[in-house]
Amino acid sequence: MNKAEVLKEIIEQRRSIFPKDYTDTEITQAVIDEILHSATLAPNHKRTKPWRFKIFKGEEKVKLASEMQAIYKATQPEQLFLEKKYNDIGFKINKANVVVSIVVNFSGMVPEWEEIAATSMAVQNMYLTCTANNIGCYWSSPKIVDFLKESLTIEENQKCLGLFYMGAV
Ligand SMILES: Cc1cc2nc3c(=O)[nH]c(=O)nc-3n(C[C@H](O)[C@H](O)[C@H](O)COP(=O)(O)O)c2cc1C
Repeated sequence: MNKAEVLKEIIEQRRSIFPKDYTDTEITQAVIDEILHSATLAPNHKRTKPWRFKIFKGEEKVKLASEMQAIYKATQPEQLFLEKKYNDIGFKINKANVVVSIVVNFSGMVPEWEEIAATSMAVQNMYLTCTANNIGCYWSSPKIVDFLKESLTIEENQKCLGLFYMGAV
């Protein structure tokens, strides 16, 4: 296959794949590095490199799951609280081999939408690199990420746009 055919195949194959379908095979550090490296190659106006990614694995990922569950419990009115939803938050993070927080940093040098767009293109690069490496992944954007503060340090000029789940398939 020539380059154009390879690219077309990867773009066509890319899908959001959810944690229930991940196996427990470890994603190697080399592949994680490749995925993150591809993110940093996204186009970005004035080279502001607005994306901030933090990788959660092992113990840190367990803590992230607990914090997300605690936030859900604390922010949900009691009559709307669903035990299934609470358990599902923990299940998804624990089932993923790696979770990456997606944060945009607003530099003030270009309009905010451009930095969200550039960060989104970085995430698309991660999606495509995952596809090429047989890694399932998806972008999750629940409202409760706005309240993360133990697992993530969000500066005044930053916003968390969600979590990127990854697992071998
Ligand atoms: C910005 C953004 C946020 C998303 N947030 C969620 C989400 O919170 N929950 C979810 O199930 N999927 C989420 N997705 C994944 C989309 O639902 C998914 O891309 C869509 O189902 C199309 O499937 P595909 O990616 O396989 O083409 C998000 C995708 C994007 C681009």
